[in-house]
Amino acid sequence: MTLAELNDLDDAAFAEALSGIYESSPWVPERAAVGRPFADLEALKAGLRRVVDTAGLEAQHELIKAHPDLVARKHRKAELTDHSKKEQSGAGLDALADDEADELLQLNKEYRDKFDFPFIQCVRKAGPDQALPALRARLQNDADAELRQALEEIHWIASYRLDDLIKE
Ligand code: GUN
Repeated sequence: MTLAELNDLDDAAFAEALSGIYESSPWVPERAAVGRPFADLEALKAGLRRVVDTAGLEAQHELIKAHPDLVARKHRKAELTDHSKKEQSGAGLDALADDEADELLQLNKEYRDKFDFPFIQCVRKAGPDQALPALRARLQNDADAELRQALEEIHWIASYRLDDLIKE
């Protein structure tokens, strides 16, 4: 789809077209629809980002919690969204050695226990060999820093998904 086509959709169709960009959180494109027409892809990304960044803590937590854990195939759940399925299987995490795959699962659990939301890293940006080192390091952060980091990672995930969807 082109940006011009997206700009021309009515509110409901616009929200539907972008419903998968922020994981299982259609309220993001619904609220961004008033910003049309977007002059370019960067303006669209900024409009979506603004909705998330001004949504308040409760909605931000919901958005983070809508994401699946980043795990190797043997620990992956069946009910992932199509976007997540593609990202997680394309991420190279399946090449992790067995003990690393188990450590990733265990650290995800520790991370959830500490922060009450899943560890989010944009795997398409960071690459598969960064998941474990980043998770080990970020477990040391405080909750404020991790909330901000998780939202930044989510904006990166959305940015890659939009690059795939919108063709000039
Ligand atoms: N959970 C943590 N990181 C990611 C990611 O990059 N993509 C998806 N879909 N889920 C995640």
